Amino acid sequence: MTTLLDPDSAASTTNPVPDANESVSEVMSADEQVAEAGAVVAEPADVKGDVADDSTESSATPGEDHEGHGDASAQTKVVAGDELPVDDGRPLGKIITVFAPKGGAGKTTVSTNLAVVLNASGANRVCLVDIDLEFGDIAIALRLAPTNTLLDYVQATTATADARRAGALTSFQPGLDCVLAPVSPADSEYISAAHVGALLRDLRRHYDFVVVDTPPNLAEHVLEALDIADVHVLLTTPEVTALKNLRLALDMFDLLGYPKQARAILFNKSDKQAGISAAEAADILCMPVSAEVPMSSDIPASVNRGVPVSLATPKHPVAVAIRTLAETSITHGPITAQRRNGRRGLKLRMRSK
Ligand SMILES: Nc1ncnc2c1ncn2[C@@H]1O[C@H](COP(=O)(O)OP(=O)(O)OP(=O)(O)O)[C@@H](O)[C@H]1O
Ligand SMILES: [Mg+2]
Repeated sequence: MTTLLDPDSAASTTNPVPDANESVSEVMSADEQVAEAGAVVAEPADVKGDVADDSTESSATPGEDHEGHGDASAQTKVVAGDELPVDDGRPLGKIITVFAPKGGAGKTTVSTNLAVVLNASGANRVCLVDIDLEFGDIAIALRLAPTNTLLDYVQATTATADARRAGALTSFQPGLDCVLAPVSPADSEYISAAHVGALLRDLRRHYDFVVVDTPPNLAEHVLEALDIADVHVLLTTPEVTALKNLRLALDMFDLLGYPKQARAILFNKSDKQAGISAAEAADILCMPVSAEVPMSSDIPASVNRGVPVSLATPKHPVAVAIRTLAETSITHGPITAQRRNGRRGLKLRMRSK
């Protein structure tokens, strides 16, 4: 048994690794969704940290100093079962922030596939937000032209909330939109934690699920996305360095008051050759692993094609593992059009009167 940090825990894994040898020929035969990668360098806004918050949600005020990170009662909403968060009786979308303190753990891979899975072929409205402000990869991973980005949201200070949101969106497929990271790393300095918070609060009013891809650090805007999230999907790989860093991050999450039940540990690039199993990782992290995603050479191939494996090959072991994570830790059941069913139900009831 590996006892790298604290071996006291009896945590265990939950989801078995799917068969990694399953055929993936569909990845290679999937139609390419090619968009010309036309880079648009946005004019820097001359305001920083100055954004109107059209949201009436009061969990955090854009522009304020966010010293209250992790005040679970005020900022982090833990959602029981398959219910969506509610604000004044209106259902809000769930925010899922995908984080790993170690670069290259697979955050972008998991975020893109999670967004596809939750979208359920258009049944749910999903927005995928890239807050890796300097080196965001969502655009390239989905072959989207970064014409509209998070910088457009920040610059559109005089627009209405709807116009500002629309100006930042890029559609990937019906019901799945993205807010891409700025093209130039230098533009990141114009985007504050307050901007990110305001955007996420706005998006959750219009989407069933908001999936947030992050950089591998706890910058202020990343803490904002963690504060506001309903679910934290936290990645590690079978390496001592990744496990050590996640363990330290979990300790910090405890200090910040982030609730343990909001966490879902994803053990990515699981590989017998690595010498650390998901069960051993759970012991090191002192909490169960929610999903075990196998190492597969099909993943780099799918990224290079710009088609997430969950879209091209839903039965691929990696896709199955990510779907399992979504069903166990986000929707708490089969992924259906929960919120939209509610709306349809209301319309049907009105029509029948
Ligand atoms: N399950 C997997 N099997 C094989 N390769 C994987 C798997 N998951 C991710 N990868 C590969 O690992 C590399 C890093 O993945 P990804 O870009 O998703 O990580 P990241 O955490 O977003 O990185 P960064 O910290 O740079 O943003 C990529 O080459 C990706 O194709
Ligand atoms: Mg990434």
